[in-house]
Amino acid sequence: MERTFIILKPNAVRRGLIGEILRRFEQRGIKIVGLKFLWMTREQCERLYEPHLGKSFYEDLTNFMASGPVVAVVLEAPRVIEMVRHIVGATDPLKAEAGTIRGEFALTLTKNLIHASDSLESAQREMSIFFNEDELIDYELDIQNDI
Ligand code: CMP
Repeated sequence: MERTFIILKPNAVRRGLIGEILRRFEQRGIKIVGLKFLWMTREQCERLYEPHLGKSFYEDLTNFMASGPVVAVVLEAPRVIEMVRHIVGATDPLKAEAGTIRGEFALTLTKNLIHASDSLESAQREMSIFFNEDELIDYELDIQNDI
């Protein structure tokens, strides 16, 4: 089964939206296989956003990501990259459809509440910054055969 990686950004935690956001994935039948509450180090922020190094928003983004605790999550589902990005909505909250996480709760690009990997390769790279292989837990969801 395919896995992706998401981070609930510091403003999602400060705004008390952890439960609201995770509920949307659970409700859809997506399995949580890794979950951590942590305050990202500078180094972790820089590794995560390495592909954006040099872009105009890089400094703002990395400073923001280091501004408070986050929730790092590994999710598992069929077609998980597309499914999770569909639930999250477009990167720019202005373009995110109503009903998506960003479409309902986000206002600006940098503080768009949640990061979700854009491919299986980046998911692998990103989750390895935060999780060891033995921290990803294999188990059966009760509803697994009914979705
Ligand atoms: P995220 O999914 O975390 O991946 C990169 C982040 O850069 C993105 O969400 C936004 O929070 C942030 N960002 C800020 N400005 C821009 C921009 N102009 N284009 C794309 N991403 C941006």
